[in-house]
Amino acid sequence: MPVVAVQGRDHTWALHTPRTTYVLSVEQGEEARVVQWYWGPRLPDEAAAEVTRARPWRMETVFSADGDLAEALPVDGGRRWGVPSLQAVYEGGVRSVELAFASAQVRGGELDIALHDPGYGLRVTLHLRVHDDTDVIERRTTVTATKGPVELRRLDSASWLVPEQAGHAYSAVAGGWGRETQPQRGVLPVGETTFTSRTGATSHSANPWIMIGEAAERHGRLWSVALAWSGSWRLTAQRRPEGDLAVTTGFGHEGLSWRLEPGESLETPLSLGLMSDGGYGGASHAWHDYALRHVLPYPEEVRPVLYNSWEATWFDVTEEGQLDLARRAAELGVELFVVDDGWFGARTGDTRGLGDWWPNPERFPHGMGRLFDTVRELGMKAGLWVEPEMVNPDSDLYREHPDWVLHYPGRRRDTARNQLVLNFARDDVREWALGWLDGLVGDHGLEYLKWDMNRSFSQAGWAERGDWLWIGHTRGVYAVMDELRRRHPALRIESCSGGGGRVDFGVLRRTDQVWTSDNTDARDRQRIQDGFSQLYPARVMSCWVTDSPNPITGRRVPLGYRFHVAMAGVLGVGGDLREWTPQELAEAGEHIAAYKRIRRTVQHGRLDRLGGRPGLEASAVQYTLDDQVVVLAYNPFTEDRQGPWRLRLAGLDPEARYAAEDGTVWHGRTLTDHGMAVPVWAERGADYRSALIVLTRVR
Ligand code: GLA
Repeated sequence: MPVVAVQGRDHTWALHTPRTTYVLSVEQGEEARVVQWYWGPRLPDEAAAEVTRARPWRMETVFSADGDLAEALPVDGGRRWGVPSLQAVYEGGVRSVELAFASAQVRGGELDIALHDPGYGLRVTLHLRVHDDTDVIERRTTVTATKGPVELRRLDSASWLVPEQAGHAYSAVAGGWGRETQPQRGVLPVGETTFTSRTGATSHSANPWIMIGEAAERHGRLWSVALAWSGSWRLTAQRRPEGDLAVTTGFGHEGLSWRLEPGESLETPLSLGLMSDGGYGGASHAWHDYALRHVLPYPEEVRPVLYNSWEATWFDVTEEGQLDLARRAAELGVELFVVDDGWFGARTGDTRGLGDWWPNPERFPHGMGRLFDTVRELGMKAGLWVEPEMVNPDSDLYREHPDWVLHYPGRRRDTARNQLVLNFARDDVREWALGWLDGLVGDHGLEYLKWDMNRSFSQAGWAERGDWLWIGHTRGVYAVMDELRRRHPALRIESCSGGGGRVDFGVLRRTDQVWTSDNTDARDRQRIQDGFSQLYPARVMSCWVTDSPNPITGRRVPLGYRFHVAMAGVLGVGGDLREWTPQELAEAGEHIAAYKRIRRTVQHGRLDRLGGRPGLEASAVQYTLDDQVVVLAYNPFTEDRQGPWRLRLAGLDPEARYAAEDGTVWHGRTLTDHGMAVPVWAERGADYRSALIVLTRVR
């Protein structure tokens, strides 16, 4: 049974996943507290009560108490001085929440614990869920105002007590535009460490997850917490002077508040918790597996090789130019042709036209139909770039609906990239967006949309419901995507926000892949992809091969290296094919054909980072599925060989033999425990050498 009521102890439950157990209870004294007792390797049912025998003694003084850290949702109230996961202000400015136990319900893998504040009327329900095929535990919270109005200053999805043995080492990602998901590791200091986004989207600068524990790539136990949300968010790790550690996370950033009228509820997004063994690699396996089993809409699909015209034409989009690129792309073996920004309204640059979603009559005198018909005749699917949440002030849409954007009366409306943000919390805005998107996708039978979002919120006012827009906008985007997908089951969506600004388990529920970064420089990409892979699977990571020198960094990287880096995810091509030499085109065709032979393994297999600092020294990444083992090995420098010398593979069948493409047969144990020498690592040569190594298990 996934959720078990612990025998001999009131209101105590053990939640079992295949390899872990999470024990919590409702402790009732002067108020009810939901207390976490255990989160670790799977316990037998009869042992679950033992973990509640006693909490370690801590000095409680009139100045401090540490009980709140163990709580599943510490409130702002009573003798608590930590970071509240729930902060409510009742009528008259009363702030101290006092909860009593109401009820608990178990249904299969789900446990709901309901509490209420009888004095002022607030119902708080903690929802927990476990599955039988993942160790990820899903938690969320619902609150309802049951008497008077309540102002919520904070409502996190969950707080997670990280057990003492985890220590205080953490792993996360940080970055910025063009350098998303840079791995960041360290030791959490005593105090409160907050990762957050105040931008209205997930952000480039941080991503909503943390892993805590003493681990290396292949060994060590880790406790991870993630948030499935694509708007502003906050994740705070509190390390107390006594050593205890808890992570609380939820939507919205500090300073927002949401007023509930009597009878109104607010439900949080999911917070996800995972305890895993096997180091950072083991944690990544479990998260990738979770994404494929429980998050993605069509996880079983193999994603096509796409071409995107952005870096080839920038805003200089014309029907003839796109047709030319489409013909060249088809010859390479591309399967999906995506027209990027610049095809609509008066959008010949980034200063105008955004919001006017009809084909530019000069650029597409016959509409888009002729282009897409040809794309299909060439054997490719058709896709289009859209940015539904944004508007240029110089557009028909804005002239007609200046009130649709986020704004405050009497305040400036600051633009960024010459655009303003449409308020997707508004019904009329969502109806408008769904209307034209539905028409566009339906009229052209589009198989793909690249859904972009190219600025952070500012002056984020909404006369009707104020701060609700921070939640309502994101939910509005979700709702439009969901309805569009419902109406067009063949449609697939790529989430983009100036590159990887909206990558998270919330958007991945309704998208099929994400644009990893606007930086397509292969060497920079290696580090970005390494950080990306910590939580998210290669199956969603869009990677393009673009031109050399790279338009953003100016770096020159050989075509083979660029392909091998992009083949580590969902391969695409984004270069100006009109400028590629016949030799380059021929080589590109070979790489694409090779990718098609390995992509099921790359997109669906187990991913192992084999060591070396990606982009900085020799490194490799391995993918394993059934009998196929795929390794992409890189060495960016001639002389600097501080990376590993021998390639030691991971997770092979120790009893089996593996055949390389040159006919060499290896014993599984040799490959994992001794390793093979890889010429691009071990031998002298030019900069930027890379190799694709494919092994097949032989019986
Ligand atoms: C964003 C995206 C790019 C491209 C441009 C178009 O920056 O990340 O890939 O689509 O917008 O304006």
